[in-house]
This record gives sequence, C-alpha cells and structure tokens, in this order.
Amino acid sequence: MSAATEMPYFIKPSLNLSPAEKEAAYAEARAAILATLGDEAEEQVKMVTINCLLKTYLPYYYWVGFYLVRGEDQLVVGPYQGTLGCLYIKFGRGVCGSVAASGKTKIVVDTHALEQGKEHIACDPNSRSEIVVPVWRKDGSLLGVFDVDSSLEGSFDEVDQIALESLLSAVFG
Ligand code: SME
Repeated sequence: MSAATEMPYFIKPSLNLSPAEKEAAYAEARAAILATLGDEAEEQVKMVTINCLLKTYLPYYYWVGFYLVRGEDQLVVGPYQGTLGCLYIKFGRGVCGSVAASGKTKIVVDTHALEQGKEHIACDPNSRSEIVVPVWRKDGSLLGVFDVDSSLEGSFDEVDQIALESLLSAVFG
C-alpha cells in the first residue's frame, strides 16, 4: 500500500471521539437528520442529507457516502462527500462489495492490513479504517451500502454500527 498522499485543501484529517462523545454526536446528528427529512420520500434527498449531517457532527468521517445496487451484481457510486470514490464495484470485491453480497455490516480497523484490490479497494490511501452498512428498503430490497472511511486507524466500533444500522433503517426501512 502506498503512503498517504496530500489531502486536498477542502478535506481535513479525522479526529477520533471517545465512545461517550460518539454516542452524543450520533444522537444530535440523528435528531437533525430526522427533523430535516420529515416525511421526505426521495431516496436521493435522504442520502445527501445523511452524508452532510453525519459528516458535520462526526469529526472522524473522512469519506462518507452510498454505493447503489445496479443490476444483478454491481454497485455504482451514489451521493458522497470526500475525495474521489471508485465509480463501480462488483459484488464480492472490497469491503463494500462483500457487504453487498453478505448483507452484513463490516468494520475494518486497518484497511492497509487487507489485501488490496481484493479485500479492500483503495480509492484514497488516506482512508485507514472504515465501516460499511447494508441499506434496506421497506420492501426488503437492497438499496445499496453506506460506507464511511476515517483517515485514522480504528475509528469505528459497535457504537457506530448500532447508531448507523438504526438510523438507516429509520430513514429507508
Ligand atoms: N472502501 C471501499 C471502496 C470505496 S472507497 O473507500 C470510497 C471498499 O474497499 O469497499
């Protein structure tokens, strides 16, 4: 894996939070997201709002966004905030593709420890840890996956998993 590259002027390195700080930040972000969305029906509006407000409240979010199911076995990049993301990911490839295939959340403590190109697709070498959560619609179909990357190792844990699974099911389920 190559060394970190310089971040663009509009991107900041991550700042980790303690579990208690995380819980408080997720509670604030969730309230802001649900208040902003009300009974909004457009998936695109929901996605951009979630990206923007989670990134606003959680300072370790380096890259945040959605990959959407396209056809039988492919993901296509959806709304995101951060540096340039990969455009297409096959089911089973990288963290996002493996979560799309399994339907189960995955937390990666150190992305550089994964086999590159197979277990992890490095769009930006500054991404050091990540969480990927499947996103289900009310009718049980898979909308895609929600991917968050941090520029620090070990930023994501159970607190993120519980808060994100619950938020995504409240908004899309
Ligand atoms: N983390 C992903 C690739 C997408 S980028 O990080 C935006 C993966 O390995 O699935």
